[in-house]
Amino acid sequence: MTKYIVEGGKPLYGEVEISGAKNAAVAIIPAALMVRGVCRIENVPQISDVTLLLRILEQLGASIRFVNRHTVELDCTHIRCARTNYELCQRIRASYYLIGSLLGRFGEAEVAMPGGCFFGGVRPIDQHVKGFSALGARVTMNGGFIHAKAKNRRLTGASIYFDVVSVGATMNVMMAAATAEGTTVIENAAKEPHIVDLANFLNSMGANIRGAGTDTVKIQGVRQLTGGTYAIIPDQIEAGTYMAAVAAVGGEVLVKNIIPKHMDCITAKLQEMGVEVEEHEDTLLVRRLHPLRKTNVKTLPYPGFPTDMQPQITTALALAQGTSLVTEGVWSSRYRYVDELKRMGASIQVEDKTAIVEGVDHLTGAPVQAYDLRAGAAMVIAALAAQGQSEITGVQYIERGYEEIISKLRALGADIYAVEDAPELSMRAG
Ligand code: EPU
Repeated sequence: MTKYIVEGGKPLYGEVEISGAKNAAVAIIPAALMVRGVCRIENVPQISDVTLLLRILEQLGASIRFVNRHTVELDCTHIRCARTNYELCQRIRASYYLIGSLLGRFGEAEVAMPGGCFFGGVRPIDQHVKGFSALGARVTMNGGFIHAKAKNRRLTGASIYFDVVSVGATMNVMMAAATAEGTTVIENAAKEPHIVDLANFLNSMGANIRGAGTDTVKIQGVRQLTGGTYAIIPDQIEAGTYMAAVAAVGGEVLVKNIIPKHMDCITAKLQEMGVEVEEHEDTLLVRRLHPLRKTNVKTLPYPGFPTDMQPQITTALALAQGTSLVTEGVWSSRYRYVDELKRMGASIQVEDKTAIVEGVDHLTGAPVQAYDLRAGAAMVIAALAAQGQSEITGVQYIERGYEEIISKLRALGADIYAVEDAPELSMRAG
């Protein structure tokens, strides 16, 4: 078991290069399965979720070659099988994208029920099923697998109105519909940057998708997708996490390789808190010179404040002057990390979907656990800001979505390193 040791209280100075977006990569890699020919994907983040998805594709018969650290060539031409590996699929949430892509390619898919981060509430996929069914697939669940099969081997375009705004359902149905017969219209679609990225990827491989990034997406089905080259967008949440770290810890950091427009919802909130953010073409200079001010945050689908930044901003607000309210508007529950912050001296009360955060003037280092990916990012920020030493366990969650977090932070002057815990001491991380 790996754990992170952090000696807190050192402001962050320097530059950090943001990697490709996790939540775009975990959809684009399964979508590559629909392509006949070589598909070259650039700006691929080196994170464990990506490694797992590539292994799943390899087991299905894809040939995979890393051209360099962040560029991968995938050739899925010879994949014949629509049944995925149970053990690998159930370890990752994004394996549900294999349903859309396999349905699009073969008219059939058999995928293990998805795993991934547990926030304390349910993570339903009824809207995915609604979409596939509207396209003419029969979807059943049996023995831990989801089985979907098009009635006539090819799906048929349809109009779909989602009951809730869902990133996963929008992307999954976009993939399945890309090679369906006729036109599909998705209404009440999600608008996150990674939705646009997936549409751009599919279009660059020959699909015909319009309107991604608005709440109506139109997909004119094509017979086949063919190879090409595509570069994944930068990770909005990774960038936001480093920005929140500067807010909590202090210092001045140039956040590089970002799309400033994607950052607006996070930048605006940090500015309300008194953080200075200077925007350049593809960088943001983030500086905290004064004590943080309280503010209120409500997470919402894009372009609202992202739920995947909720634990990180709450951690910064735990050190702001005054009382802030943070309301979770996407998930039914996402506050498991709050007890860990309290162990470090934070004063936070959770009432239903709202956290009442009374700012304290410092946090104190402690042994804490990362319960999920973004909760883990919050623990890192809290430990960097705290006085004294912290030990963070459960870091495998952090490594699902943050490429080289230790070396990126060390380059900013943070005192953080990873150690291997003796097995008998790693019970808490279990
Ligand atoms: N929902 C339904 N039915 C569905 C699907 C979703 O009721 O069929 C509900 C959910 O319960 C939730 C809301 O709709 O309340 C939004 O869920 P969404 O489908 O948008 O989430 P997701 O696709 O499962 C992705 C990201 C999450 C991120 C959310 C929201 C991936 C692999 N995951 O999840 O990312 O929180 O969108 O933006 O892309 C993370 O990166 O840490 C992470 C958890």
